[in-house]
Amino acid sequence: MKEIKIETLLNVYETLDELPKDVVDLMTRAMEAREKSYSPYSNFSVGTALLLENNEIITGSNQENASYPSGLCAERTAIFYAGSQFPDVTIKRMAIIAGSRVKTTDQPIPPCGACRQSIAEYEIKQDAPIEIYFMGEKGKVVRSHSLANLLPLVFDKTVL
Ligand code: THU
Repeated sequence: MKEIKIETLLNVYETLDELPKDVVDLMTRAMEAREKSYSPYSNFSVGTALLLENNEIITGSNQENASYPSGLCAERTAIFYAGSQFPDVTIKRMAIIAGSRVKTTDQPIPPCGACRQSIAEYEIKQDAPIEIYFMGEKGKVVRSHSLANLLPLVFDKTVL
């Protein structure tokens, strides 16, 4: 038996103020997108903003449905839009902000597993890292240099 230890590297910032202006601006776009969240069932709203290599910014928010599994997370709403509208443009960076409307969310909220899998697909497709920043409504911000740091043991096309 062999034991494998998997390590990852993340940067944690105490507040958004520690980050450069271009990152703050992208997070601001994610905040604005979050206001457009349609989340009457969970009362949990998420906004995201993607920066593309052509400087286009794509935003998305979670969209829920009375048939719960038919809803979609903010991250996939945005990344599928980018993939469909700008299929050949590299996605450079993603900012995510999330929080509950019924309690304070002051810890960073990472993208869910399904979103990580979807983001991984585009990172592998473009063969360049997608830098990810995520936060709650306030407080710490986490940065990952690439999606790969958030999803070890990825399931990808090489196994098909
Ligand atoms: N949600 C996202 O938009 N992104 C995530 O990464 C996690 C969860 C949404 C889905 C649902 O509308 C609500 O948050 C509660 O799960």
